[in-house]
Amino acid sequence: MKKTIIYSLFNEKTITESLAQSLNTDIGDLVCKEFPDGELYLQVKDRIKDKSVIVVASLDYPNDKIAKLLLFSETLRQEGATQVGLVAPYLCYMRQDKQFHEGESITSEIFAKFISNHFDWLVTVDPHLHRHKTMSEIYTIPTQVVHASKQISNWILSNVKDPILIGPDMESEQWVSQVAKEAKAQHMILEKVRHGDRDVEVSLPDKSLLSEKTPVLVDDIISTASTMIKTVHHLSALKADYPVCIGVHAIFAQDAYEELLYTGVETIVTCNTVEHKSNDIDLSEDIAVAVKDICKRR
Ligand code: R5P
Repeated sequence: MKKTIIYSLFNEKTITESLAQSLNTDIGDLVCKEFPDGELYLQVKDRIKDKSVIVVASLDYPNDKIAKLLLFSETLRQEGATQVGLVAPYLCYMRQDKQFHEGESITSEIFAKFISNHFDWLVTVDPHLHRHKTMSEIYTIPTQVVHASKQISNWILSNVKDPILIGPDMESEQWVSQVAKEAKAQHMILEKVRHGDRDVEVSLPDKSLLSEKTPVLVDDIISTASTMIKTVHHLSALKADYPVCIGVHAIFAQDAYEELLYTGVETIVTCNTVEHKSNDIDLSEDIAVAVKDICKRR
């Protein structure tokens, strides 16, 4: 009998199936229903006593998911799982990493404590590390970070002629420079000032680097898409070619995808950390390697 079993908590089908195949594990069966009063009913249909369990849960729009995540991890313990690991291809609550005003919640730290209390390890993809430099500053369990840069640069190499990579802000330098190196392309980093959720100022791209190039905007998260839209407007004012927009995590709040599309971009492509029609870069294999590594370390 296999000693590890994997569950997909919010229908992360592609990644779960690919992980199950690479790790040679069974996919578990979980029944989840909502009572009329909104409380959750969970039932694990497999025998998991003395098994190691991997939970796949992509945590975009997290507030509707947190109760199920907590109840499920504790149900697995109650049923005798020896360890419970979390694969969160998109990890939420990483951006409020500082108290800007008195009384504000530093949600990155609180959420890290919550996950560390309920799981034995965590694998995630390019978490938004900015003021926290490493995951271990806030997570007390072993963590492994998968970087999307290799697969993004492979995609650029196969799909974009003469790319010039553009990172919209200083934080993006870490991954944009790596993607550029692997795609053997030049890059530039802009400066961004955020005044509000949808109110961002982005500096002008350097026109001299754009000539006869395809601009490729690369960011970790596309949420309201304001950052990308502002940059696309600058590029069209500079009469650059239509840009390709690449995001690791396809959050696309409300109509953000359509709004970005209507600016006249060449294409919008994302990784499959959050299921979305723009997903064209598959990270399943990289996630499987990270899970194998972290399990070996334990
Ligand atoms: C911010 O620090 C991130 O790296 C992204 O630039 C940001 O989340 C993008 O947000 P939006 O799409 O709402 O402009």
